[in-house]
Amino acid sequence: MNLSTEVAGIHLKNPLMPASGPLTGDHRKMRAIEMMGVGAMVTKTISTVAAKVPRPCIIAERDFVVNTELWSEFSPDRWLEEFLPEYKKHSSLPLIISLGYSPEDLRKLVPLFSEFADCFELSTHYVADDPSLMKELISAVKEGTDKPVFLKLDPSVPDPAKMAGAVQESGGDGIVAINSLGPVYPFDRKANRSLMGSGDGFGWISGPVIKKLSLSSVRRIHEGCSLPIIGVGGVASADDVIDFLSCGASAVQMLSGALINGKELFKRIIDALPSVLEKRGFESAKDAIDSAERQKESFEVRNPVIDHERCTRCGLCVEVCPYFALRLDEKVEVDKAECFGCGLCESRCPVGAIGGVLT
Ligand SMILES: Cc1cc2nc3c(=O)[nH]c(=O)nc-3n(C[C@H](O)[C@H](O)[C@H](O)COP(=O)(O)O)c2cc1C
Repeated sequence: MNLSTEVAGIHLKNPLMPASGPLTGDHRKMRAIEMMGVGAMVTKTISTVAAKVPRPCIIAERDFVVNTELWSEFSPDRWLEEFLPEYKKHSSLPLIISLGYSPEDLRKLVPLFSEFADCFELSTHYVADDPSLMKELISAVKEGTDKPVFLKLDPSVPDPAKMAGAVQESGGDGIVAINSLGPVYPFDRKANRSLMGSGDGFGWISGPVIKKLSLSSVRRIHEGCSLPIIGVGGVASADDVIDFLSCGASAVQMLSGALINGKELFKRIIDALPSVLEKRGFESAKDAIDSAERQKESFEVRNPVIDHERCTRCGLCVEVCPYFALRLDEKVEVDKAECFGCGLCESRCPVGAIGGVLT
């Protein structure tokens, strides 16, 4: 199975790479993640000064992470003099260098980092959502390098497609969507306060709970502009990677999945990709990416059809139906006059005995 893909002219052996963050915070960590078989490397965000990270700064439960990590706790000099030369000695993976934040920061940093980078990713986390500022950021990078530049979107951007359009107009080469979402307040009942060390207790949330939002950004950007997209936010399985590809991403990043489940998850996902692609009827990663073009929305209203052989008569569909259109006597009956064709029963049936509305 061919897992290869391409973003802005950069060939990747497979579509999965780490998202910017602590797992790629120096050369040793990057090397360890590289050994998991990822298709590209992405550094933690580097800025003109080392971040003073408040701690505790990462907490997680089964389906989310909340963090207050800011950016790299190491200076740009340490990256330039030690981490990147050391990393480059052993690695031939495409390297995406994440930089932040202001146009002035980027004018200083980009010329220094350009020799190490195959591509730049700009974190816009602390510089808000103004398309004209995005244009300035892209111009600041383009002044100092001929390497491709991807803009990483903050989830608070109200219209991701419009923003992506502004990036394209100003000469940007791609979009990374999305960063963690916030501020959120991770209140802990036992402590009766937030556990984050950020002073005010707020942080940013990521992981499986934000996946639908990330997918929506990817989908909207895909529909609104032709730039390549790297999807990120909530990936924790090979199926998740394929979901992003099928919604318009050309490659995918993951961080929280590995923070929640362990770093080996990168390897497990890459190993599983061929069989999961095949199970979903795709011949290659590229085939899944191309399928984003084939998706058509349907607004035809249809009533559910019950497979009585499969139905266990658990009654869940009757209980949840918001239009009071289902009844359980001998078997589940649909009142077509009341049914709104909303789809909830089909999506909630635990045994897949309802069809016809969604599928
Ligand atoms: C602990 C932590 C640190 C992060 N640090 C950075 C960072 O330095 N730069 C950045 O652009 N995004 C950073 N992020 C955001 C991630 O790169 C990613 O966009 C977000 O977490 C959504 O992906 P995920 O659900 O796979 O984690 C960080 C996220 C976490 C959880």
